[in-house]
Amino acid sequence: KGSSKSGRGALIVLEGLDRSGKSSQCARLLSYLEGKGCQAEGWRFPDRGTSVGQMISAYLANESQLDDRTIHLLFSANRWEKRALMERKLLGGTTLIVDRYSYSGVAFSAAKGLGIEWCKAPEVGLVAPDLVIYLDVQPEKAAERGGYGGERYERIEFQNKVGEHYHSLHDSTWKVIDGSLAMEAVEEQLRELAMNCIQECQGRQLTNLAW
Ligand code: TMP
Ligand code: MG
Repeated sequence: KGSSKSGRGALIVLEGLDRSGKSSQCARLLSYLEGKGCQAEGWRFPDRGTSVGQMISAYLANESQLDDRTIHLLFSANRWEKRALMERKLLGGTTLIVDRYSYSGVAFSAAKGLGIEWCKAPEVGLVAPDLVIYLDVQPEKAAERGGYGGERYERIEFQNKVGEHYHSLHDSTWKVIDGSLAMEAVEEQLRELAMNCIQECQGRQLTNLAW
């Protein structure tokens, strides 16, 4: 069991608007991979378990107010504080399924009006994903899903802007899945993309996010 002898793990990121189904799909993908005997872990950003993560969580719950650039840098710091562990896990053969990453950082802050280049700068040097899967859901659809509206950014007009910025970030590592399909159909596509990625990246070196 495990793939540590045959190569490194893959860094697979799921992105999408709030309530696009990322968290459920990450969990399903993870149990599928584990069932296949693959060494894998589920991660998420923000990681609310650290002290930086607690500041972020309070901000999202509207329990604190922070300047737009300050919260942007905290989200980034929250990824940086996990960078060393992330690299160690990947090199040790563990595949990481990550719910949100730097693309959320850029898309959400840019939707507030911050410059794209300014938003990208603090992300440079984090580990580059092998695959980014964007779950494409209309904000109106997402808003119909349970629990919507509880946190700061969960407003349709704002999510529309976030979606536009996400689209400008698409590059060669991106695959888009129609998130309005049935859960099983999305799951099926995800499995195939993930399995291919895990195999393909075995011989490829880890790189850093360059942008
Ligand atoms: P979550 O619902 O996936 O826990 O994410 C919380 C919110 O934080 C979500 O609206 C997206 C936003 N976000 C950013 O604004 N910047 C970031 O870097 C990340 C990871 C999330
Ligand atoms: Mg949320």
